[in-house]
Amino acid sequence: MLEISGIRAGYGPVAVLHGIDMAIQAGEIVAVLGSNGVGKTTLNNVISGIIKPTAGTIRFEGEDVTGASPAHMVGLGLAHVPEGRKIFPNLSVHENLELGAYRRATANSARNLERMYDTFPRLRERRTQLAGTLSGGEQQMLAIGRGLMSEPRMVILDEPSLGLSPVMVEEMFRLVQKINAEGLAVLLVEQNVVQSLEVATRTYVLEQGHFVLEGKSADVLKDPNLRKTYLGL
Ligand SMILES: Nc1ncnc2c1ncn2[C@@H]1O[C@H](COP(=O)(O)OP(=O)(O)OP(=O)(O)O)[C@@H](O)[C@H]1O
Ligand SMILES: [Mg+2]
Repeated sequence: MLEISGIRAGYGPVAVLHGIDMAIQAGEIVAVLGSNGVGKTTLNNVISGIIKPTAGTIRFEGEDVTGASPAHMVGLGLAHVPEGRKIFPNLSVHENLELGAYRRATANSARNLERMYDTFPRLRERRTQLAGTLSGGEQQMLAIGRGLMSEPRMVILDEPSLGLSPVMVEEMFRLVQKINAEGLAVLLVEQNVVQSLEVATRTYVLEQGHFVLEGKSADVLKDPNLRKTYLGL
């Protein structure tokens, strides 16, 4: 579904990604793990068209989308739920969700709103509340719900568990499995190593703009370097 090869990207003279190759098949959950500042968000932004790569190619559903705009990527069925939630604080929950269907699945907006409220009952209770007054976990659910309003084929989640309580983190990972079971491919970018390895089919580990480890999650979990560096074992 998504195939990227030789991707390099950065900010002005600063190179951040130094040649990234990865692929995501339909129906997979793929995790990208890595510490602060290694380039995870940069990679997400390259895939969703926010940042143009300086080298390499990106294919989505067989189409060469290297350098395509974010609007084009949404139109093709890629939803990006950015880091830090980025909801509209002065709009209601309902209005935020409706905006998710602005570019795609517009005609199905009413039906999909009901589906989102079924998936996130907390949002139904708070449909008229200003989004900026939601709790952190509720804002994260709203950001994901808004992404799903476009009926995507694949969703990028940038650190969905960041800043959530342990109970909410569990809920978030269950939700990731649920939306995947409904047919979406998921690119899950996380620092929550153990739980990500549990839900992901395959995992890539990013360090300083390179993948240093990749494979089936069960095999990645056995890697001695990963256990030492990320799990302190
Ligand atoms: N707009 C920007 N201008 C200049 N440098 C940037 C910009 N955005 C990010 N960077 C730098 O690029 C590097 C990678 O940042 P990125 O946000 O991709 O990391 P990350 O892996 O997502 O980290 P985190 O886990 O903290 O979110 C960092 O050194 C960061 O300071
Ligand atoms: Mg980031």
